[in-house]
Amino acid sequence: MKKDHRSIAFRTTVAGALLASATLTATLSSPVAKAAEVSIACGALGVEFELCKEGAEAWAAETGNTVRLVNTPNSTTERLALYQQLLAAGAEDIDVFQIDVIWPGMLANHFIDLKPHSNGAEAEHFQAIVENNTVDGRLVAMPWFTDAGVLYYRKDLLEKHGKALPETWQDLTETAAAVQEAERSAGNDKLWGFVWQGKAYEGLTCDALEWIDSFGGGAIVDEKGKITINNPQAAKALDMAASWVGTISPPGVLNYAEEEARGVFQSGNAVFMRNWPYAWGLANSEDSPVRDKVGVTALPKGGPDGKNSGTLGGWQLAVSKYSANPEAAVSLVMYLTGAEEQKRRAITGAYNPTIASLYQDDEVLLANPFFGNLYDTFTNAVARPSKIAGAKYNRVSNEFWNATHAVLSGKADGATSLAQLEKKLKRISRNGRW
Ligand code: GLC
Repeated sequence: MKKDHRSIAFRTTVAGALLASATLTATLSSPVAKAAEVSIACGALGVEFELCKEGAEAWAAETGNTVRLVNTPNSTTERLALYQQLLAAGAEDIDVFQIDVIWPGMLANHFIDLKPHSNGAEAEHFQAIVENNTVDGRLVAMPWFTDAGVLYYRKDLLEKHGKALPETWQDLTETAAAVQEAERSAGNDKLWGFVWQGKAYEGLTCDALEWIDSFGGGAIVDEKGKITINNPQAAKALDMAASWVGTISPPGVLNYAEEEARGVFQSGNAVFMRNWPYAWGLANSEDSPVRDKVGVTALPKGGPDGKNSGTLGGWQLAVSKYSANPEAAVSLVMYLTGAEEQKRRAITGAYNPTIASLYQDDEVLLANPFFGNLYDTFTNAVARPSKIAGAKYNRVSNEFWNATHAVLSGKADGATSLAQLEKKLKRISRNGRW
């Protein structure tokens, strides 16, 4: 359901009261910067909106400004469409945008360069993300949290059925099928083996890229711009995933995004789930039926010679160049992306910090043990080809998820679908010249 992005906007009363007193102080002892109202567009997956609200309100209370939160659609694909509309119109009503790791190349022209205002804070963050967010020498967004696809599993069910953690996708397929069958025969008839993101949208690009990369099938387009997707390893990976639909995965998986997969897993109805780290905090929340029964590990390898892979995801904060209050907007961005706030979000919501030192913080690791074990998964995650494709990335991804969806839904086999995809990508990229 698409929510009207204005309908949930609100003003904080506490911050409003503080604003009144700040204005008073300002008149008494000028010069003090005038208090401003800053609006921020935040994601709302799981507890995301709540966390954004708490952080932004803390900033407002500290600075005497006010904040207005704008809710955005869960699907990153829909969110991009909304942002493009607002930015193309030069809309002033959103000052700070939460942007996906794949968007800097597409949206850079609408954001201000943060480098002159950051006081060098970006040096503390993962440099690969800072580079990703730097377009033509301009730092268009500050890293906020990072992500990589990981495998969730039911510790209790694997133990009960004497199964080890899967090392390869083949192992996962067999274990999921065996546990599903045994549980169903014992009356647990809603149980599925594996849930993931199979809907035709950006999330499917992420899942499919990690299957393909784990089989050594590359990353769609290589760093030089060459289209590499039409290869037998990639086709094999897609054919494998197609074999799950209706066997270990519900037929409805073809319409699942992150939250649908989490819904099934968290209600106790799946052995394995592919998802992002945010699902950890929710799976272990007080009212979660699978609390304390869940483990997190790296996604399986493509085969004995394959590798563990996870797609790089994550979100940044950018300041709109149409903002009427850029100074206050920058201040909010620097506050939210700072170490204290990233630590709070990691502990409360399992959002991976982009500040390397927080991965050595005892409280962060206690709340999220897998941040330690899977450190390499997060720092070596496979990137989507958004840097090379730049403004054309969304078209590339759109063709890729459609080609994948066609295989998953049995309309074509992997080899046929990828051969067609290659032709389309060649056209979009002017034969790899981009
Ligand atoms: C997560 C990732 C983001 C990705 C999206 C796909 O939000 O952080 O990078 O594009 O999922 O659904």
